[in-house]
Amino acid sequence: MDANAQKLLDLAAENPAAFQRLMEMVKGKTIELHDGGQKDVFYSKARFKVMNCGRRWGKTVVAAKIIISKTRKKNQMLWWVAPTYKIVKRGYDEVLRQLPDGVLAKAAPPSSNFDAGRSVILHFTNGTKMEFYSAERPEGMLGAAVDFAVLDEAAIMKPHIWNQIISPTLIDHEGGALMISTPRGRNWFYKAWLKGQDSAEKLWASWTFTTQDNPTLPPGEADRMAEDMPQMEADQEIYAKWLAAGSSVFLLDYDRLQDAAILRDGLIDGYPPKGHVVLGIDLARTNDYTVIYGARMADRKNCYFERMRGVAWEEQRRRIKRAVRTCMRNGASGVTLIVDEGNAGDVIVEDLEEAGYDVVGINFTTHKANMVRLLANDLERGRAFVLNEPVGLVEFEAYMMDVTPGGRYTYSAPEGEHDDIVSAKMLQHHGVVNEGVPGLTVLNEETVAAPRIDDHDDEWYEDDEDGYDDLIDPDESPELDDAQAADAVGLAYRDPTQPPSPQELMQRPDLWF
Ligand SMILES: Nc1ncnc2c1ncn2[C@@H]1O[C@H](COP(=O)(O)OP(=O)(O)O)[C@@H](O)[C@H]1O
Ligand SMILES: [Mg+2]
Repeated sequence: MDANAQKLLDLAAENPAAFQRLMEMVKGKTIELHDGGQKDVFYSKARFKVMNCGRRWGKTVVAAKIIISKTRKKNQMLWWVAPTYKIVKRGYDEVLRQLPDGVLAKAAPPSSNFDAGRSVILHFTNGTKMEFYSAERPEGMLGAAVDFAVLDEAAIMKPHIWNQIISPTLIDHEGGALMISTPRGRNWFYKAWLKGQDSAEKLWASWTFTTQDNPTLPPGEADRMAEDMPQMEADQEIYAKWLAAGSSVFLLDYDRLQDAAILRDGLIDGYPPKGHVVLGIDLARTNDYTVIYGARMADRKNCYFERMRGVAWEEQRRRIKRAVRTCMRNGASGVTLIVDEGNAGDVIVEDLEEAGYDVVGINFTTHKANMVRLLANDLERGRAFVLNEPVGLVEFEAYMMDVTPGGRYTYSAPEGEHDDIVSAKMLQHHGVVNEGVPGLTVLNEETVAAPRIDDHDDEWYEDDEDGYDDLIDPDESPELDDAQAADAVGLAYRDPTQPPSPQELMQRPDLWF
């Protein structure tokens, strides 16, 4: 046993309280690298290290340990860079937590400096400096010769932060870098990681580890995290996979499809609107479709579907009213409309509100990412369903995720394709999950039983005769030939290659052109 160990034992015997305090101090500071990959990166001799890891693998912990190990050399310039002040702050706290006592020449600045936009620099007694930066404000990062840089959550930074700002500062002293992140598609961070996989790139090394590889997490915790996300997101966030741009967002297992016919009045065969119904409405702008997609709140099964194109707002409004009426007459206890209020939709929301509807305006653009995740996740877990209807299925399958160079996700249909059905379904599902049933806050029989339609203005009842012919557009039923399609809408079929008879011309104004 060496002399130091003997000293510790003596202290434990003579002053147990002081020994206890010393032990607490050491325990809180020294991080023992875990066997899930932290040692590999710590001991690697590569100048540029790229770590691609799942969330909570221990990236910030190992990065702090590595940058602290660099402070043993004197007069070093060390940088810690993260995409936002919030993330930089987390890194700063971890560095302070692991920092041994007595190494700083000046007291560490408070982390409130980040919020105040002031610089945060640790001055070490040996002349080494550690500077903390957010890539949100890269202005301050110019002009230094840097010996080592950590890029925490690198994939969320814009590519020029590395290429034009950090990388050039490493030239003078042949500095090194640790880039560490969860992946964000195949952006610049992916390319940096690829260099590390290339045996010709001697200066680079790279690794991939999953959240499950962190043995310090409570058992089952990583799997629980994965279960709370759509598969696509878990692949990236937990399993650290490189998603290709244009990856499909919605995985439509056959048993998530609701195999039921859409009836002429927009109702769904075998799924009458009962209980509270939510109608998601994506309003047409210039050239696209208006879609009304309804589900029963209780079991989330779809109970209404209508798609129309090229109709003026007046007509769209008429059909929305008709959809509500159809649901009410067929058993719904109430109907909530979820409408995109962006893009001047707020006027429409107001209009419907004034007419007595229970309508919720959602800013689709702001909430889109969350709505996509919610629907994708619930579809995968059998908590949401999509009608087995060919146009919608095409839209769902084509709907894709993309990543901007700065690591932000975007979701949309491929260029030039429609996504109105997907949008209406997302609005509907958001409503089903997040909106309570109105009028049910006081639970007495009267409020529960009160049919919502009483609130609607009289105009609704006057418009007695519901016509539904406009719901069927022969062009959109690929399985039907023209004759069958005409038959389905109740029209006499006529062969377009033959000129119309005078009788036909009299009865069919649509044949005039
Ligand atoms: N070597 C380690 N020893 C003990 N706990 C660790 C270790 N590495 C990571 N952890 C713990 O795992 C969790 C995630 O670590 P963190 O570095 O914040 O992950 P990431 O930056 O990858 O999201 C934290 O609770 C952290 O304390
Ligand atoms: Mg982290």
